Amino acid sequence: MQKIPITVEVNGRKASREVEPRLLLVHFLREALGLTGTKIGCDTSQCGSCTVHLDGMAVKSCTVLAVQANGSQVTTIEGLGNGELHPMQQAFWDNHGLQCGYCTPGMIMTATKLLEENPNPSDEEIRDGLEGNLCRCTGYENIVKAIRAAAETARGGS
Ligand code: FES
Ligand code: FES
Repeated sequence: MQKIPITVEVNGRKASREVEPRLLLVHFLREALGLTGTKIGCDTSQCGSCTVHLDGMAVKSCTVLAVQANGSQVTTIEGLGNGELHPMQQAFWDNHGLQCGYCTPGMIMTATKLLEENPNPSDEEIRDGLEGNLCRCTGYENIVKAIRAAAETARGGS
């Protein structure tokens, strides 16, 4: 199959590769760039474990072709904290917001955008915002608690 050259800025660095037109963004990130923090839970847009930020939006990277991301900016869980734990990662850690951890990168990528859009969400709004992210360990209680804690920290502990 003929390959197409693409350049995507991932976590602040430009990555240029030739890819098959059918290659999904999640496979580009994991296999071409070795960024395996982005997980594949279903490959069919149901679980949210592949969530990344694409040009400032939280998207499921199994629903986007790599060629569609050409010229875009992508942030993955590896780039979220700029080499340190992002406050949302810290909040998940502090509040036991993970069990096996498989859903966690996607949850965190969704949660950071959720707080950008709504810095003071109710628990119900947090649960609504996480609707597209599934946790097979059913750790939702602590995930919501972690996001609430991250929101409080961002507001200065109010
Ligand atoms: S792997 Fe993308 S939504 Fe499940
Ligand atoms: S912590 Fe195991 S799937 Fe969520």
